[in-house]
Amino acid sequence: MDCIRFLEGIGDKTVDLAVVDPPYNLKVDKWDTFESQEDFLKFTFAWMDCLVPKLKETAGLYVFNTPFNSAYMLQHLVEQGLMFQNWITWDKRDGMSYTKKRYANGQETILFFTKSGKYTFNHDDIRVPYESVQRIEHAKTRGILKNGKRWYPNSRGRMCGEIWHMSSERHKVKVNGKVQRLPHKTVKPLDMIKRIITASSNEGDLVIDCFAGSGTTALACKQLNRNFIGCDSNEQYVLSARRRIRTGVIHI
Ligand SMILES: C[S@@+](CC[C@H](N)C(=O)[O-])C[C@H]1O[C@@H](n2cnc3c(N)ncnc32)[C@H](O)[C@@H]1O
Repeated sequence: MDCIRFLEGIGDKTVDLAVVDPPYNLKVDKWDTFESQEDFLKFTFAWMDCLVPKLKETAGLYVFNTPFNSAYMLQHLVEQGLMFQNWITWDKRDGMSYTKKRYANGQETILFFTKSGKYTFNHDDIRVPYESVQRIEHAKTRGILKNGKRWYPNSRGRMCGEIWHMSSERHKVKVNGKVQRLPHKTVKPLDMIKRIITASSNEGDLVIDCFAGSGTTALACKQLNRNFIGCDSNEQYVLSARRRIRTGVIHI
């Protein structure tokens, strides 16, 4: 169903985490095509205004988009009283567009907001490997002197930063080295969505995705023991998402 009708059916202050990957107005498909940028922003602000009251006071909200659109979205969410936490840059590695007139696009933005200053953030569960392996190996036994104190590396790695280098799902699912056409054009990497859910929710929490697409958020929730509700306006996507949730794999 349509996201607005779906959101209207949800109780206020019931959602622990919203992971929202909406249209970008890049015309990658019919559902991503708007008459004008004004129309696109009108649509975007409408779903945002419906979603915000559904979030608990302790909730988090992640919104995907282009850096350009994210600037408008950030301003609107601040005006709705949400607290800005991070502007995450997803370096898509293989997502370059081949223009010769400006720098090649290779990133998407993920805005991270919270409803208030009191929210879940499981920083230890999303640590990433240290980059300077040799130095860290040395520091494990002797530590590193920092401001007069000895610092020892965390066995789970360093804190996760705001720049995420992750290959897009299309490039991960290869058959005989060939990139496959997936049933959905904009499938988000499962490991990226799992990072978001691990950081910003706990087992048993309620996660919402009102643009579910191929069901990436739903599958991540199942694997991480979170509850999930979501919708998509395209029935075929909902059917293939259900199959993906059931089987754990995306059917090409
Ligand atoms: C960027 S895709 C989401 C992809 C998803 N994150 C995944 O990993 O597969 C956006 C989705 O929003 C859906 N959509 C577009 N307009 C909608 C609306 N008004 N209400 C509900 N869903 C909508 C599209 O059908 C599309 O599947």
